[in-house]
Amino acid sequence: MTTPQFPNTTIVDHPLVQHKLTLMRQKDTSTASFRALLSEIAMLLAYEATRDMKLATEEIETPLTKMQAPVLEGKKVVLIAILRAGLGILDGMLQLIPSARVGHIGLYRDPRTLAAVEYFYKVPGSLADRDVIVCDPMLATGNSAVAAVERIKQSKPGSLKLVCLLACPEGLKNFHEAHPDVPVVTAAVDERLNDHGYIVPGLGDAGDRLFGTK
Ligand code: URA
Repeated sequence: MTTPQFPNTTIVDHPLVQHKLTLMRQKDTSTASFRALLSEIAMLLAYEATRDMKLATEEIETPLTKMQAPVLEGKKVVLIAILRAGLGILDGMLQLIPSARVGHIGLYRDPRTLAAVEYFYKVPGSLADRDVIVCDPMLATGNSAVAAVERIKQSKPGSLKLVCLLACPEGLKNFHEAHPDVPVVTAAVDERLNDHGYIVPGLGDAGDRLFGTK
């Protein structure tokens, strides 16, 4: 679903995604379930995010005859996870796109200013002409996603998308002001951002819930 309120944003309102997201939000959901659900939703978000992948045709032989059949065109997709919660999205996406290349970008939020500070960057050698999907479960202030995409754009990828589990109006506004050309795919847009940079109602700290660190 798209809405004029949030430009260049697709909200994946599929009932399975919405149901799984509700389970993830609940505070008593275990770490194991949270992890499994994020992986399942990530696969469904990847399905949506790759909807416009280019196809070429190739001659193949079925047991009955030859035919011109569709195959993916171009270089392998690159998934770039924003550490650390982005790791939780990789798994599910790789189940759908097993040949994808993977990059990682480490950004932490300065607790005082909430600005993104880069501490790690490792992506496949050449992103030129490749479709890149940036993965970050929570588009909260949007500062990490803005910084990550800024950095990745320096390598001139063929296309860029941001996939997140949950967004909020403040994060989407910030992201689209900085990168109006980069589509966002998300499972939901929540009500607001609170004073501590958390999405409300949200699901808490995605990294902590994913890795059981709290
Ligand atoms: N990061 C999280 O993990 N949760 C939020 O609500 C916001 C940022």
